[in-house]
Order: sequence, then structure tokens, then C-alpha cells
Amino acid sequence: MMLILKPGLLVFGILIAVQATVVVSPTSRSSASFPSQVIFQTPDSVFLENIAVRATSELLITSVTTPTLFALDPTSVNATLDPIYTFPNATSLNGIAEYRPGVFALAAAIIDLTTIRWFPGSIVIWSVDFNAPSPRVRALGALANAQCANGITTLPGQLETLLVADCVAGAVWQMDARTGKSRLVLQEPAMLPSAPAPALGINGLHVRDSHLYFTNSQQHLFARLALTVGRNNVAAAGAVEKLASIELVAGNNPDDFVVDHEGRAWVTVHPGAIVLLSPPASGEGNWTQLTVVGNANGTDPGLIQPTSAAFGRGNSVQKKMLYVTSSVGQVVAVNTSGYNHV
Ligand SMILES: *[C@@H]1O[C@H](CO)[C@@H](O)[C@H](O)[C@H]1NC(C)=O
Ligand SMILES: *[C@@H]1O[C@H](CO)[C@@H](O)[C@H](O)[C@H]1NC(C)=O
Ligand SMILES: *[C@@H]1O[C@H](CO)[C@@H](O)[C@H](O)[C@H]1NC(C)=O
Ligand SMILES: *[C@@H]1O[C@H](CO)[C@@H](O)[C@H](O)[C@H]1NC(C)=O
Ligand SMILES: *[C@@H]1O[C@H](CO)[C@@H](O)[C@H](O)[C@H]1NC(C)=O
Repeated sequence: MMLILKPGLLVFGILIAVQATVVVSPTSRSSASFPSQVIFQTPDSVFLENIAVRATSELLITSVTTPTLFALDPTSVNATLDPIYTFPNATSLNGIAEYRPGVFALAAAIIDLTTIRWFPGSIVIWSVDFNAPSPRVRALGALANAQCANGITTLPGQLETLLVADCVAGAVWQMDARTGKSRLVLQEPAMLPSAPAPALGINGLHVRDSHLYFTNSQQHLFARLALTVGRNNVAAAGAVEKLASIELVAGNNPDDFVVDHEGRAWVTVHPGAIVLLSPPASGEGNWTQLTVVGNANGTDPGLIQPTSAAFGRGNSVQKKMLYVTSSVGQVVAVNTSGYNHV
């Protein structure tokens, strides 16, 4: 999750009110040869927060302004946002990730949207199982001592170990999806927020090749940390490596991202860009940055305040589509054909 950090626009409600007058009609745009299209816009600019994709191609979308999980069929000509389930004792949903085929974990909580504080003890990780005629929903466990639950991801090869980003504590919690037991496994200065509330440090996180990659919104950072992975036991195996400072213009803040099969990261950046980060050919040094959709000033109406991204699934056309959610309620499809990532 990310907010506008300029004074006066700190609050979700204000941001939403300001943007509610923006009417975006589906139009094609291109930037660095990546055509993109707004395939859905919430009529009331509902804040869309995170995205996961089912094997059926259907997008699962969370929002921080409602405790309802939504589905959207991106192959439909006129896509709709369809409610799947409304979670109890929550006002907001954040990260979502598939941890078993067809089974998704998501973080629900009560968040005070004027102060952007997670109500203590309200964070619960839920499971939504689509391997049934209607989704089976159950609570996996509470993150009783977490101060925030932002991004959520799985460990490759050990999918039932969930990692959850605590953007306030600057930490990562681990939860065993089988037992619901959790503990704090990582806590680093590079994961801390750099400003007082609303505190937004570590935001998105994904594991690849024994490294935890993460963004830190307020530190404008993309970084990684080597992990040792024992059975249900994650720990740091080195120091944080800072890979990129994402601040082309002042106020740029990275949000969630997706790592492709080539190991590149497609990062959503506020106020309105997708930045493609690629490792240097030598393997050493900072990663290169290429703005592939929108721009650093956020002046492209086709991509406003992007919050998370995921590649499509299903047929070969879908696998080349990058789907992006936004805090003003856009769902944007980016055609990445021509880039060898799947
Ligand atoms: C999609 O929406 C447009 C505009 O409302 C409408 O003209 C068109 O018939 C719709 N297409 C389908 C397949 O529903
Ligand atoms: C919601 O919270 C109340 C009060 O803490 C608790 O009694 C109830 O069991 C909770 N409901 C669910 C479905 O977790
Ligand atoms: C690499 O990125 C780090 C962290 O963002 C930054 O502090 C450093 O100056 C960068 N190094 C170069 C050579 O650009
Ligand atoms: C952002 O806006 C400034 C001021 O208008 C302009 O100088 C700059 O080129 C813009 N940068 C980008 C990446 O759009
Ligand atoms: C994506 O772009 C490729 C190449 O330009 C094109 O063949 C394909 O039809 C596009 N996909 C969609 C879903 O528009």
C-alpha cells in the first residue's frame, strides 16, 4: 500500500475525493514500446491495493477501503469487478498470494484510514480455496504483534511458508499456513519507514534464488537480502544489498512489484509509472531502470498511482500481459510481448 506523501494529500479519503473527478476512458498508450490499456475503472475510485492471478486467468484484487475480495476476468470485453467474499472484523485487505494450487492467502485488518494505522491485534491471515464449487474461506491465524501487514509472498519450494511485510516495524513475519503459527524472522534498517506516520517502509516482497527482494516506499529503495531457508524457518544469510534508488523525480515511491522469469523486477512507482529494473550484465552494481509505462511525474491518465502488478496466467497471450492495480481504481493491462520473460 502506498499513499501520496505530499502534505495535504496524505489521507486516502482526500486522495480518493480528488481523483474521483478524473474520468478515464479505455485508451491505448505506449511508452518504450509497451502498449497499455485501462481495462477497468471503479466508478467511485475505490482504492485497489493488491493483485494475484488464478490459473483460470481471473484476477483476484484487494482494496484497503473495503474488506471485500474481488475477481475480474481480464479476457472479458467489458470487465467487471465481482465481489467474492467479505471478511469479518476487518476494514481493509492488503497482500494476496497463492500458497497452494488454487489456494490464496491474504491479509485482512482494521486500518484507521485517516492516520494510516493498523488497529493493534486486528491483522488476520486468511485462506481462500478455489478448489470447490464456491470458495472455501478460513482464518489461518492472527499476526497478533504485527504493526502492519502489507505485501505477502510464499517461499518457492516451501509454499506453505508465508512471508508478510510489516511496513511499520520494518520487518518480515513468517506464518506457517498449516498451523497458523507466526514469528518475526527479519528486521532491518532498510525495511524501516524513513518518516513518521503514515509509516510505509517495506512494501512489496518476493523470493527468488534464495534472495528476498523488497521495496521500501519511503526510502525509495529496491533491495535484496540472502536467506537461509530451513524447514519452516527463514533467516537472513547476509547484509541487505541496495540495488536501486527509485526516485527519478522527488516524491517517487515504489510500491509492490513482480519478478519475471529472467529475474527482472517490474515495479509500480507512485505517482504514475512502471519501472523495469534489470540486473547489470556483470552481476555487480546497481540495477538499470527503464520507465516502461507512464512517467515519473504521474501525468499519464492511463496509469495513476499504481499499487501492484502481476503477470497473467492461462494462454500465451495472457502470460505476456502485466496487470496493474491502482489506488484510484484503475486496472491496467500492459502488453509486454517482445520481451522474453516467460
Ligand atoms: C461493452 O461496452 C460497450 C460500451 O458500453 C458496449 O457498446 C458493448 O456492446 C459492450 N460489449 C459487450 C461484449 O458486452
Ligand atoms: C470478530 O471479533 C470478535 C471480537 O473480538 C470475536 O468475538 C469474533 O469471534 C470475531 N469474528 C471472527 C469471524 O473472527
Ligand atoms: C546504488 O544505489 C544505492 C541505493 O539506492 C545508492 O545509494 C548508490 O548511490 C547507487 N550507486 C550508484 C553507483 O549509483
Ligand atoms: C517532470 O516534470 C518536470 C517539470 O515539469 C520536467 O522538467 C521533467 O522533465 C519531467 N520528468 C519526467 C520524467 O517526466
Ligand atoms: C500484444 O502485442 C502483440 C504484438 O504486438 C500482439 O500480437 C498481441 O495481439 C497483443 N496482445 C493483446 C492481448 O492485445
